[in-house]
Amino acid sequence: MDKLPTYRPNPHQRRSPLLRSPLLALVATVFTLGALNLNLRWQGTATANLPFNAAEILQKCSALDVQPGPPANFHSRTHSDRFQEGTAPTLIRNATIWTGRVSGHEVVVGDLLLDKGIIQAVGEIDQSTLDAYDDLVVVDAAGAWVSPGIVDMHSHLGVSSAPSLEGSDDTNSFKGLVQPWLRSLDGLNTHDEAYRLSISGGVTTSVVLPGSANAIGGQAFVIKLRPTAERSSSSLLLEPPFSLNKSDTEHSSRPRWRQMKHACGENPSRVYSGTRMDTIWAFRQGFVDLYDKARSIKEKQDQYCARAQTNQWDGLGDYPEDLQWEALVDVLRGRVKVHNHCYEATDLDGIVRLSNEFQFPIAAFHHAHETYLVPDLIKKAYGPTPAVALFATNGRYKREAYRGSEFAARILADNDIRVIVKSDHPVLNSRHLVYEAQQAHYYGLPENLALAAVTSTPAEVIGQDHRIGFVKAGYDADLIIWDSHPLTLGATPEQVYIDGIAQIAEPFSVEKSADLQRTPKTPNFDKEAEDALKYDGLPPLEPKEDDSGVVVFTNISSIYLRRGHAIREVFSVASEKESGTLVVENGAVICAGDCSEVSIAGGSRRVNLEGGSISPGLVTFGSPLGLVEIQGEASTNDGNVFDPLTSKVPSIVGGDGSVIQAVDGIHFAGRDTLHAYQAGVTTAIVAPATRGFLSGLSTVFSTGAAHKLARGAIVQDVAALHVKVGSSSASVSTQIGTLRHLLLGGGKGTLAERFRQVTEGKLTLVVRVESADIIASLIHLKREVEGHSGNTIKLTLVGASEAHLLAKEIGEAGVGVILSSRPFPGTWESRRILPGPPLTQDNAIAILHANNVTVGLGVDENWSARNTRFDAGWAALETDGRLSKGDALALASVNVDVLLGRNTENNDLVATKGGDLLSFEGRPVSVISPDRGVVDLF
Ligand SMILES: *[C@@H]1O[C@H](CO)[C@@H](O)[C@H](O)[C@H]1NC(C)=O
Ligand SMILES: *[C@@H]1O[C@H](CO)[C@@H](O)[C@H](O)[C@H]1NC(C)=O
Ligand SMILES: *[C@@H]1O[C@H](CO)[C@@H](O)[C@H](O)[C@H]1NC(C)=O
Ligand SMILES: *[C@@H]1O[C@H](CO)[C@@H](O)[C@H](O)[C@H]1NC(C)=O
Ligand SMILES: *[C@@H]1O[C@H](CO)[C@@H](O)[C@H](O)[C@H]1NC(C)=O
Repeated sequence: MDKLPTYRPNPHQRRSPLLRSPLLALVATVFTLGALNLNLRWQGTATANLPFNAAEILQKCSALDVQPGPPANFHSRTHSDRFQEGTAPTLIRNATIWTGRVSGHEVVVGDLLLDKGIIQAVGEIDQSTLDAYDDLVVVDAAGAWVSPGIVDMHSHLGVSSAPSLEGSDDTNSFKGLVQPWLRSLDGLNTHDEAYRLSISGGVTTSVVLPGSANAIGGQAFVIKLRPTAERSSSSLLLEPPFSLNKSDTEHSSRPRWRQMKHACGENPSRVYSGTRMDTIWAFRQGFVDLYDKARSIKEKQDQYCARAQTNQWDGLGDYPEDLQWEALVDVLRGRVKVHNHCYEATDLDGIVRLSNEFQFPIAAFHHAHETYLVPDLIKKAYGPTPAVALFATNGRYKREAYRGSEFAARILADNDIRVIVKSDHPVLNSRHLVYEAQQAHYYGLPENLALAAVTSTPAEVIGQDHRIGFVKAGYDADLIIWDSHPLTLGATPEQVYIDGIAQIAEPFSVEKSADLQRTPKTPNFDKEAEDALKYDGLPPLEPKEDDSGVVVFTNISSIYLRRGHAIREVFSVASEKESGTLVVENGAVICAGDCSEVSIAGGSRRVNLEGGSISPGLVTFGSPLGLVEIQGEASTNDGNVFDPLTSKVPSIVGGDGSVIQAVDGIHFAGRDTLHAYQAGVTTAIVAPATRGFLSGLSTVFSTGAAHKLARGAIVQDVAALHVKVGSSSASVSTQIGTLRHLLLGGGKGTLAERFRQVTEGKLTLVVRVESADIIASLIHLKREVEGHSGNTIKLTLVGASEAHLLAKEIGEAGVGVILSSRPFPGTWESRRILPGPPLTQDNAIAILHANNVTVGLGVDENWSARNTRFDAGWAALETDGRLSKGDALALASVNVDVLLGRNTENNDLVATKGGDLLSFEGRPVSVISPDRGVVDLF
């Protein structure tokens, strides 16, 4: 037969004479054919008869080479398949809409009509259209920016849930190197606390990927984050593949895109222990074997279909399928968006070769810290050039990430490679994904691409750009109304819509100034981006020391200086015509503000700050700067101290009466340290790393010093005594009991001496703690000990996610708090966070500040000290004017010094060009250090 196959009932088929009713006859036919088919299979005999499911098979065959995508009539839809009955139509008036269209260059000022889960109209909307509604909810955006909802292309929401509990980690399977049959959906927890928080940051869609412990970790799923009426995991899915519930056999439309996680490099070695060579070989061999298996199934299907479609059913048997391998077969058919976690040039090279050898496209390389070094290699991948999904500044956490660059996004874009920024939630809290786009923009990614990097580009890469990622009539009604331009620091949604449903029941918003309603004018980093390439990802970061003796900073808009325990603005210009000057001689400030009276020697260096600012040097605490270089590489780190509570401290160390000092382990000129220095963080306070209760004595060091013996390198040998109280191998009550014992004089050796100093109020005790209940116990203990000694203990809490619950008591107890830059309910003990706008009016900083608690800002991550300036600026913006710029600078400088027992002078200053230290417009260009007698220039 050479005609195109059509389904014809077999005329020879015998029918039961008992059947009279046509309906019954039909049912019975299907039944008999089914039985016959089963029979034939049993006997394994060839037959000229059509199998009962021939239509289904032919349907499958004809769809084999159809590329996924929306059905042809998708854009004529009048309502969304995700529409929730009862959702009122909404009119958003007077919005400034970034649509994502015209390569991200289009901005429309006008209105938006949302109904039936989709955007019905954008711009000027006919009155007649509006008149058709009698139940319109009208929202006045008052000119606010509106963007498409954020699409997070790399998330573990729901599979790596918050709070993290032993019962909730469904990220990685460790059962094999290659497991394309696994589905992240099967672990998708609907109770992750993070959904609501991420929505409040504007995330409307996430790709939930399995982890990277395997070469092929399994299938990923695209979800929308809003709660559904059904409350099930499946009801969160956006366009799930029809094969998920076998509804593919009912659908004549095009298949839908599938997503799959692949990984290369270090992580897959977790399930295959061996050297790197072994791992790479096992990984490659795995691919070869398994792709061969998938390929052979694909070939069998193709052959089968060639025969079925020409009506050669004889001896054809069943359609060749393999539940275990079907997803990989689809990879080979180009019907799966492959997301490959891959960092280094060497690993990228291997995967690019593999994609050509086995002929499958890669949708995106994720993390991909070295892609910017090898753009031409990326373009050699099979099929369309993979996109690259990055962190903006998070790097150096392992060898693979060591050459990561903040300029990677713009360099890739310069090479016409599509750039996405992603969260890897909960690695980064996806609530703040827009901050990644902001940072990428700060370091040079053009505005249109930076916004696209969290909206339209990921939508395109996952094959959903027919409905999300753009503001366009007919698209899903997933939108964000912003309180400021989304690329400004601290930009926060005022409202978020998913499928046309407003997600924040009672949004709180902050009044933002007019200059935050436009794109920030970011510095020019062309030279630095060139250097990143020139030095193969490791450009020198050491500052250049001024050698002229006198440096004159001109064209200054504002000067902030330390005044006792506060930061004051001592100079500011009233108009653009004015400007200030700062004169520095041998590192010492001679004059600040109006220096017209000062005579300046010839040969001095002049630095035009172009309206920039002078601020105190920032102080960082929390990241182990100087103790950790590459987090994943033990040999680059100081390591952990012995914890006397949970293990035996060798007697040669001094047994359990010993206390370790961080100053003995500090190394200088690390990359995170120098990045911090270049970002205005001139000193760091670090405590020894511990996995248990006792940490030891912190030290204060200068981040710009070349080595320990350099002038001013160690600012203060011992700052404070540090312990940690919380869930660990010893019970919390044991830990509090131990503290009591030590504070009441029960210890021995140096440890006892140090605790005596604490009890006498001479040494600050710093406790890392999260839970409000433990904080209450600590305050109780403080009172108890003070009752005995009659002295006041200096106590500082670090982390303190739940401190806001006891703000009054903490204030009354005279206890200080160093908060994490932004809260996240990552653990049980930190689950009761105060999220801040738009979910709550206040944040923890504002509440503690209002209760007279001295608050400092700490950082959580090894790499993030460099972002302290933005953390402080953001905190000030979020507190709605209750914190001045001076207060914000204090959060990250003098307050940290005071809270950690620093008693040495800190006169460091930072000069920024173009804007101030707390904004995306300023760029630190110099550190002035009277204590070290230097002016460093970047
Ligand atoms: C839109 O909002 C801006 C800012 O509030 C306002 O100046 C303008 O008059 C509004 N336009 C309309 C058409 O309402
Ligand atoms: C199967 O999935 C399709 C596509 O998402 C959906 O339309 C259908 O309702 C699902 N069927 C069942 C029984 O869940
Ligand atoms: C000061 O900086 C501003 C902002 O960059 C610039 O417009 C102005 O020309 C500068 N003035 C001088 C005297 O350099
Ligand atoms: C920082 O690095 C150290 C050393 O590897 C590690 O133990 C610690 O968990 C890291 N901190 C964070 C927050 O990841
Ligand atoms: C904070 O301190 C100020 C000044 O000492 C005092 O007036 C105010 O009552 C205090 N507020 C609280 C909540 O204790």
